[in-house]
Amino acid sequence: MKRTGQPLHHESAHGHVTGEALYTDDLLGRYPGLLHAWPVLAPHAHAELTHLDPSAALAAPGVVTVLTSADVAGEGDSGPVRHDEPIFPSEVMFHNQPVAWVLGETLETARLGALAVVAKYQPLAPILSVEDAIARGSFHSGPVTIRRGETAAELARSEHRIEGEIHIGGQEHFYLETQATLAWLDASGGVSLHSSTQHPSETQEIVARVLDIPRHMVTVECLRMGGAFGGKETQANCFAAVAALGARKTGRPVRIRLSRRLDMTITGKRHPFLVRFAAGFDGDGRLQAARIQLFADGGWSLDLSEAILGRAMFHVDNAYYVPALEVTGFVCKTHKTSQTAFRGFGGPQGMLVIEDILDRIARTLELPPPVVRERNFYREGQSTHYGQPVKDAERIARIWGLLKESSRFAARREEVDAFNAANRYCRRGIAITPVKFGISFTATLYNQAGALVLIYRDGSVQVNHGGTEMGQGLYTKIAQIAVDALGVRPEAIRLMPTRTDKIPNTSATAASSGTDLNGAAVLDACRTLRATLERVAAEMLECNPADAHFENGRVDISGRRERVLTFAEVVEAAYRQRLPLFASGYYRTPEIHYDPKTHQGRPFYYYAYGAAVSEVEVDAFTGQYRVLRADLLEDVGESISPLVDRGQIEGGFIQGVGWLTLEELVWDAEGRLATNGASTYKLPSWSEMPPEFHVDFLTRAAEPGVVCGSKAVGEPPLMMALSVREAIRDVVASFGPGVVELDSLCTLERVFFAIQRTRAVSGDAASAEVGAAEMGALGS
Ligand code: MTE
Ligand code: HPA
Ligand code: MOS
Repeated sequence: MKRTGQPLHHESAHGHVTGEALYTDDLLGRYPGLLHAWPVLAPHAHAELTHLDPSAALAAPGVVTVLTSADVAGEGDSGPVRHDEPIFPSEVMFHNQPVAWVLGETLETARLGALAVVAKYQPLAPILSVEDAIARGSFHSGPVTIRRGETAAELARSEHRIEGEIHIGGQEHFYLETQATLAWLDASGGVSLHSSTQHPSETQEIVARVLDIPRHMVTVECLRMGGAFGGKETQANCFAAVAALGARKTGRPVRIRLSRRLDMTITGKRHPFLVRFAAGFDGDGRLQAARIQLFADGGWSLDLSEAILGRAMFHVDNAYYVPALEVTGFVCKTHKTSQTAFRGFGGPQGMLVIEDILDRIARTLELPPPVVRERNFYREGQSTHYGQPVKDAERIARIWGLLKESSRFAARREEVDAFNAANRYCRRGIAITPVKFGISFTATLYNQAGALVLIYRDGSVQVNHGGTEMGQGLYTKIAQIAVDALGVRPEAIRLMPTRTDKIPNTSATAASSGTDLNGAAVLDACRTLRATLERVAAEMLECNPADAHFENGRVDISGRRERVLTFAEVVEAAYRQRLPLFASGYYRTPEIHYDPKTHQGRPFYYYAYGAAVSEVEVDAFTGQYRVLRADLLEDVGESISPLVDRGQIEGGFIQGVGWLTLEELVWDAEGRLATNGASTYKLPSWSEMPPEFHVDFLTRAAEPGVVCGSKAVGEPPLMMALSVREAIRDVVASFGPGVVELDSLCTLERVFFAIQRTRAVSGDAASAEVGAAEMGALGS
């Protein structure tokens, strides 16, 4: 029986629930003499560090040393792209930025030591908003423009025109396991680390850079992560470098694990965006032209902001053909945490813009929004603004049609309208939105992966690959692939923790490509080994190698049972014939290319498609809303692991709902993050699960050229949550005609005021006043 395609539970599900699954910081007890690190935090968003004196800390009990720039042999910078992240800064760039690290015998002594360090600052004026950054010309990079057609002329020629501005909020990753790392000097003179990192090779690179040693002296292992969501693609590096510095200076193991508050205040988040747009369209709601300006709030350093902005620019079309399109992007430099990768990697922000525009067009023309959306779908033969043909465009309409039917969209639209006609203040809304998400790293070079598969003489197998496990089920899928490829029993396969001394120069596990890349590399290695074993088995069974059938640890002649060998017997025979029982595997995504100068090419190997219908209910007195029902249809190709994929779809959607409707990041006037814990930062939970929640996979959808015909699933479902935002706007629209302006995050206050505005504009001023008076009477 094939293992791929089976709904197996996550390989660590049992360990996750019982607590037996270990994470980086669970290992601290295994390192005698381990030291704890705690940072000295700057109390300003922007300042010059004028004086740093650790002597009082050094005299404090339990403090072993204080790490400062004097301890850096190499380059004291952890910037992953641009080297603009000094680990021991002289200019403070955001509130709570670490300026030094104290190592103590216990966490408590390290913390107290950090408070004892004397640091003096000359405060400087911070830039805390995108608007302020624009006004002061504070940019990390940009403008970058991708254009097709004569946008200005087409806009002028358009029958109708709208313009607008949208604020899009950021998002805290809130992985359950905060940033964690443990470094020690290994027995052979190298530096070893456990790190909760999505990108062990880059963590290795940065540690080597800071210690000024070659990379072969550094080994990074990632056992698994308790969630990452993009927040550990680059942001683990700095802590790893500090721990390694500490280990090198003291000769003792050093551990860093951030508290929740530290993690929230010093690590990067999803980028907030400011968007300005103009769109032209005809009387049927067909887009003729759009000009879109994206201002990403990058925070204090560049990090991955350029690539994230790039993905936003690639996704402002979502599933729609815009004949003339000009999109320009800037990365603003502000005095906040350095914003970073977060599930969707800019795609969600880009797609929100076009969905917002299409709803405005529909309301302007008084057409149903789904009709306007449909009319603008990509058709066969059309290309994106960056020149990639949308080869399987028919899938957009196919998914749309299937979902409309399975969700009973038309009938429910009528039910919602009837409900609203009968209810003045409690209203419902329904919306359907599509997703088209490009799969591949947009930087072509990252689309490669390696694997190393070892078979031992007893027939047991170790599988090494460059991908990291963060809960997404990569290891489960890879184990399934290896079981089928080798024809062994599932127990024969052991997935090894990701280590840089097994596979070098790996890419981050990101861009939803973990299985596409690493799964294909493992398959490649397994095929090499299988070919060897088939030749050996054929001799033993006296048949053609092609007829040697490997399945579930047994080897026979296809379809015939007269002679059956065990996998281990064949392996032992191969060993005795002196044949190699280990193989490397390699994969590079074919056919992709992109020219960053012309902004044209085929950056994505394929698109992942999906669509979602959401229905919400809103209380107009308070703006309070809830999702009543969600129907999701996702194109996962031929699913390798349906239960894992279902988890990804449900989790991604709810995480998107959190981003769009609940999770508010508030920086105060001094640039302090006011929402720095679970008590102030509202997260989605059980209560946000739609009581009616349908998740389906598109059938007959095998994707040619991808491992097992599967498709990436990690990020695309997050963007299905845009249907919830559009359903809320649909509720606002039920209060009167006209365009619905609603910033994102749509907090309940914003929803309330959007309803008030619509009621006022619709001549419902009297009732709007009544509403306000009622609100006043309610004391809110
Ligand atoms: N699922 C869980 N449970 N935890 C995570 O941290 N990260 C997401 C997604 N799903 C994440 C997750 C992100 S941002 C990406 S890019 C992919 O998983 C990465 O894994 P994959 O490429 O193997 O899908
Ligand atoms: N997606 C996610 N992470 C990345 C990418 C991307 O396209 N490029 C570089 N890191
Ligand atoms: Mo995911 S944002 O590509 O780590």
